[in-house]
Amino acid sequence: MKFYITTPIYYVNDIPHIGHSYTTITSDIMARWKRLNGFDVFFLTGTDEHGAKIAAAAKEREKTPQELCDEMSEKFREAWKLLNISYTDFIRTTQRRHFVSVEKIFQMLFDKGLIFKKKYEELYCVGCERFYARKDLDENGCCHFHKTKPVLQSEENYFFKLSAFQNALFERITNPNHKEYIEIQPEERRNEIIGKLKLGLEDVSFSRTAVEWGIPLPFDKKQTSYVWVDALINYLTGIGYTENETNFQKYWPADIHLMAKDILWFHSVIWPAILIGAGLPLPKRVYSHGFFTLNGSKMSKSLGNVISPQELVDKYGVDAARYLVVTLMPFGPDGDISWQGLTLKYNTDLANNMGNLISRTIKMTEKYFNLHVPQTVPNLELAKKVAAILKENFVSDMDNMRLHKAAETLQSAIALVNRQIETDAPWELAKTDLDKLASCIYAYLQATDIIVMHLLPFMPTVSEKIWQITGAGCDINEAAKKYFENTVIPENGFSIPNAQLQSPGILFPRLF
Ligand code: MSP
Repeated sequence: MKFYITTPIYYVNDIPHIGHSYTTITSDIMARWKRLNGFDVFFLTGTDEHGAKIAAAAKEREKTPQELCDEMSEKFREAWKLLNISYTDFIRTTQRRHFVSVEKIFQMLFDKGLIFKKKYEELYCVGCERFYARKDLDENGCCHFHKTKPVLQSEENYFFKLSAFQNALFERITNPNHKEYIEIQPEERRNEIIGKLKLGLEDVSFSRTAVEWGIPLPFDKKQTSYVWVDALINYLTGIGYTENETNFQKYWPADIHLMAKDILWFHSVIWPAILIGAGLPLPKRVYSHGFFTLNGSKMSKSLGNVISPQELVDKYGVDAARYLVVTLMPFGPDGDISWQGLTLKYNTDLANNMGNLISRTIKMTEKYFNLHVPQTVPNLELAKKVAAILKENFVSDMDNMRLHKAAETLQSAIALVNRQIETDAPWELAKTDLDKLASCIYAYLQATDIIVMHLLPFMPTVSEKIWQITGAGCDINEAAKKYFENTVIPENGFSIPNAQLQSPGILFPRLF
């Protein structure tokens, strides 16, 4: 079983911020989750390095475009390293392998008569790197995303016969029984796409004469590829389209393309049309999430209100930062975030709920059992209860990208164990019933192990640490893979009787 997941490739005119991090961490959690479920995962991310926007940014900074790309692409790599992103490959569109793919696709579309030359005059937004019809602009004639006026461009370019794909796309997007059905999420955005499709598709310009910083067309070297066509093809290049046929056959089509709503149109209409044109299978799911604003305003480097991965990690640590970013808002709608909101969630979910469970369970084990898993008749009742809750909700939420909901279920499982501790009052049992005390502490450790295996994709390092702290001993990834195969808890649980525990220190110090 394979699973191919992608993030958008990010423009190198900007620094990586919490918006890019949201998509990338979400993809990483999905990639890790699928690996735990036995899938052979290919997880692709990278940087989008051509086009007018990048050329202009380089000029502004008095660098060559290549220098800017090298420098900024590295910043994305560094950010993903910091956030413990487990990508399989990082693609850069200035790589040689990508030129070859783009040329191949262009030539194929050209040979099939899907590309023709035409003179046109249209409004172009450099920020979006796309043309707009007047009806798609706001009341001031500005683009909705950048609030700037697109400029009139007139060129003779190569056009792609997008209009020819209207029916084919409509079928594939609306008919779940179609063998090449593309599932677009969320529902409202899918409906928007369908609505627009019904209005009809116009042919689109796929090349530029005035943009030098791009990939020259194989059949007319005086023109370069429109940056969006170049960018979309990265999803093929990244898995070896022109250099590793076996790999390509193994992973294509993509199982999920992830992105925010700003670029859903390109992924659900333009991209599938290119693929149909090239005779390639279509991606199975195209999922878009909402846009973050920060304290009510659009995040932008020029306004100085971006949250960087480094700031997040400095404040919360890597694992907590990952958890907080993806659980702050549901996957789909727009959301406003703030440092206060992040810290509140950190304190509630991690310092209080999770931290409390670990620290008191271990403290009691230390106090009453000399930091060893109590030797007792295995009591797996609580662990089974927790496992059942997680199996029912967590799994389907994860598979459907509802990570915030999956995390809520995790928090309720933690709360359940915390409540059980209150009910059992082990500190009283210590005075009256040592057998029951041993059985209870044993039960908390086992339940914690189940919780931690589910937390693993969100917080890989901390989960591994907690796993060792609770005396589970073996490799958490191996244990979790085995567990998720059939969700059966081993007879003696995971924290084996008499195993030595570790002192946790403070995992999540309270923040103010
Ligand atoms: N280069 C194109 C994508 C080409 S993919 C074939 C591009 N790049 S981008 O740098 O602008 O990245 C856009 C993506 O970054 C969004 O779709 C989203 O995944 C992420 N985000 C950037 N800012 C964001 C927010 N403020 N909020 C949420 N996600 C955002 O478009």
